[in-house]
Amino acid sequence: MQAIAVLPQGLEEEGAKELLALGAQSVRALKRSVAFEADMSCFYRLHLQARLPFRLLREMARFQCDGPESLYFAIQTALDWEKWLHPSMSFRVDVSGRCHGLTHSHFTALQVKNALIDLQRNLWKVRSDIDLEQPDLCLHLHLNHSGGVLSLDGSAGSLHRRGYRAAMGVAPLKENLAAGLVQISGWDGCVPLVDPLCGSGTLLIEAVSAAIDSAPGLNRSFLFEGWADFDQNLWQDEIKKAELSKDLNKKLPLIIGCEQDSQIADQARNNIAAAGLQKIIKIQNSHFRELLFPKQKGLILCNPPYGKRIGSNANLKNLYEELAKFIKINASGWTFWLLNGNRELSSSIHMKASRRFPISNGGIDCRWLKYLIH
Ligand SMILES: C[S@@+](CC[C@H](N)C(=O)[O-])C[C@H]1O[C@@H](n2cnc3c(N)ncnc32)[C@H](O)[C@@H]1O
Repeated sequence: MQAIAVLPQGLEEEGAKELLALGAQSVRALKRSVAFEADMSCFYRLHLQARLPFRLLREMARFQCDGPESLYFAIQTALDWEKWLHPSMSFRVDVSGRCHGLTHSHFTALQVKNALIDLQRNLWKVRSDIDLEQPDLCLHLHLNHSGGVLSLDGSAGSLHRRGYRAAMGVAPLKENLAAGLVQISGWDGCVPLVDPLCGSGTLLIEAVSAAIDSAPGLNRSFLFEGWADFDQNLWQDEIKKAELSKDLNKKLPLIIGCEQDSQIADQARNNIAAAGLQKIIKIQNSHFRELLFPKQKGLILCNPPYGKRIGSNANLKNLYEELAKFIKINASGWTFWLLNGNRELSSSIHMKASRRFPISNGGIDCRWLKYLIH
């Protein structure tokens, strides 16, 4: 099948690498997405094991369309709906892009919905319900200048929701974004890992989950399990493989997060426990200046507040200066990664980044900055 992985902006290249490593083929990074080819096993595997995508879309049909009427008829013939959309199933239509005559996604989605329920009424005299939250089938229509691509979304909710994060601190990172930042950092579980401002612990949980091969999609259900051509045996094989690859006993170095707010530190501990990683990740409830770094050199991953959502610039400047000073004195030989969405603040640490990766964090233009501490 042809398919698309939808990704956070800035993680396209990393997303492409991840999909390739999991068996996808003809992988091409695009803007906020990666196009690829996969067989059914691989498509299931990606839902279980890929950490970076928001969603995975399976292409079902491509057609010409140049306005509401041609879209209506193209949709009715795009799939064998008798097989794929029984009126007992609810559905939802998501739309991206635009083409001549179809420039409002809400209107376009209504047109797709009308085409389908008219067809259902003709076939069965009854129609499906629309369910925006938990549909049985989620259709995705992408429009471009040459027409439309109709896909099925393998999951109704975004794949970044792993299920371990009941509680969130202030300005938490999405799990897939955190996983992508860890992947860029190259941390592989061989050296110590410290997050001095860990909030709800997302960076550490994602880092350790990747290091022990804990599949993010285990223990959740997916919409493709209700698709007309769902293959239960292939799916069970992929689940077994994912379960077997998890290694909770893998020997890992010290992994520690620091959070000064006691409530948020407790939330981090709860999230870590929900992810089953309480024996591996330690949370220290203190100001970061109380942190003791192990002798073995390692990585510091850090997402401090950057003013767009929390904190004021003057206070934050002091925080950044103190953090930089503390790291220079205590973490010589370490690598320091900083996610920052405010240039003024990152320049106040007076260090020169050796790498910088543009990343969008919930629409905020950020940089994932790498510093080598001498
Ligand atoms: C942007 S949040 C981190 C979010 C985190 N990456 C997540 O996904 O939940 C920054 C965190 O730093 C904490 N913090 C601020 N100043 C601190 C300090 N001096 N020492 C330790 N933690 C601090 C805040 O309480 C906040 O939870």
